[in-house]
Amino acid sequence: MGSALIKNGTVVTATETMHADVFIENTMVVAIVASGIDLGLVADRTIDASGKLVIPGGIDVHTHMELPFGGTFAADTFETGSRAAAWGGTTTIVDFAVQTKGESAMEGFEAWMAKAEGECAIDYGFHMITGDINEQTLKEMDMLVDEGVTSFKMFMAYPGVFYSDDGEIVRAMQKAAENGSMIAMHAENGIAIDVFANQALARGETDPIHHGLVRKSVLEGEATHRAIRLAEVTGAPVYFVHLSALEALEQVILARDEGRNVFAETCPQYLLLDLDNLGNGFEGAKYVCSPPLRDRAAGHQERLWRGLKTDDLQVVSTDHCPFCMGDHHTFGVQKQLGRGNFAAIPNGIPGVENRMELIFDAGVSGGRINPNRFVEITSTTPAKMFGLFPKKGTIAVGSDADIVILDPDRTHTISVDTHHMDVDYSAYEGREVTGKVETVLSKGKVIVADGLYHGRKGDGDYLRRGTTMMLR
Ligand code: URP
Ligand code: ZN
Ligand code: ZN
Repeated sequence: MGSALIKNGTVVTATETMHADVFIENTMVVAIVASGIDLGLVADRTIDASGKLVIPGGIDVHTHMELPFGGTFAADTFETGSRAAAWGGTTTIVDFAVQTKGESAMEGFEAWMAKAEGECAIDYGFHMITGDINEQTLKEMDMLVDEGVTSFKMFMAYPGVFYSDDGEIVRAMQKAAENGSMIAMHAENGIAIDVFANQALARGETDPIHHGLVRKSVLEGEATHRAIRLAEVTGAPVYFVHLSALEALEQVILARDEGRNVFAETCPQYLLLDLDNLGNGFEGAKYVCSPPLRDRAAGHQERLWRGLKTDDLQVVSTDHCPFCMGDHHTFGVQKQLGRGNFAAIPNGIPGVENRMELIFDAGVSGGRINPNRFVEITSTTPAKMFGLFPKKGTIAVGSDADIVILDPDRTHTISVDTHHMDVDYSAYEGREVTGKVETVLSKGKVIVADGLYHGRKGDGDYLRRGTTMMLR
């Protein structure tokens, strides 16, 4: 593969900002030296990063490529979704393999490994959705940890689909406490939500806006509280996925103040979009995801931004789960499945390509967080949270050369016309952002440069993850 030198950039890690040159040999960073000092090393390729930020590649720990959901499949395959991620400066994804009711978890894992094998543009790992907790699954959780699947997603939402009751959650948490894995929790009280949803539909309230109205933020807070207390009595660490509501964040803060191993991510949609996006008739279907977008006036969004600043929230992921408004070329009807019934709209929003630029724009360019914190929440902590650090998540000697060169001053407009995700709309259509991902290296190979993609499917390898490094 050869060597590369990234010269004259501002190298930003979670802890340092330095005007430095980064020398890469094959897949790895081998030297970082203050700019201007002659390394005496000759590289096959020199990349001038003057005026640019040189940051660790993004790590998106919440994606759903080809997720079967609501009678269809998420529109991006591992090929298209991981390539789009690369375009947007993300060089690692952790996706969710699925065990459905009556299936073995190991078989689910193997099926997802087969889907991803030879398809990915960037490195990838898996969490496991455990949809059926029984004696066999509990044994398989140990086997999966050995395979590098060290986190298990459980759902307090979606009764009849992925839902687990409190007893199942307790049993999985006991296992996680024993084998060092993490429970990743979708915290919404799905039983209560279904009552409100059915009542709304019976009143003829069928538009997407009602998805947002029936999935009340208090019910996310309640589920978060319950999961924290179940984690307390079992000793398991718990990571709340796609946290959207201030009531949920309050519970996380209380638990963290008690010194508990409680962690949480939020997503760009909860930081930037709101309940109003679910209005405008069926157009709102573009924004149907769970938990739903929240009422801006109630203060959720500003509370989430503050939580990111104060480390009450540790990670920004995307929950990338795209469904087309029109027919998908392979998977057919998607969002339209819920025309006339908001509860049948496949849940999910596209975003894997946009996360780095959206958060840089609103966070760093917008003055809410500094560049080091940006790196921490988009790369370093995700790597530590899910057992990938220091191979991933930083620019350091010995780390994989997953590196993004970002122009902090370049402004551009997000649009379906220019994105690479295999979905027919952008949730951020027309949004102008400052900060542009220009060059992307994955394990030392330049895969995006000068507006062109130079990678290939199969460049990405499976990552056998370790257990979390975040325990307190
Ligand atoms: O709406 C969402 N979040 N779709 C993906 C599945 C999930 O709950 O993460
Ligand atoms: Zn979820
Ligand atoms: Zn998800």
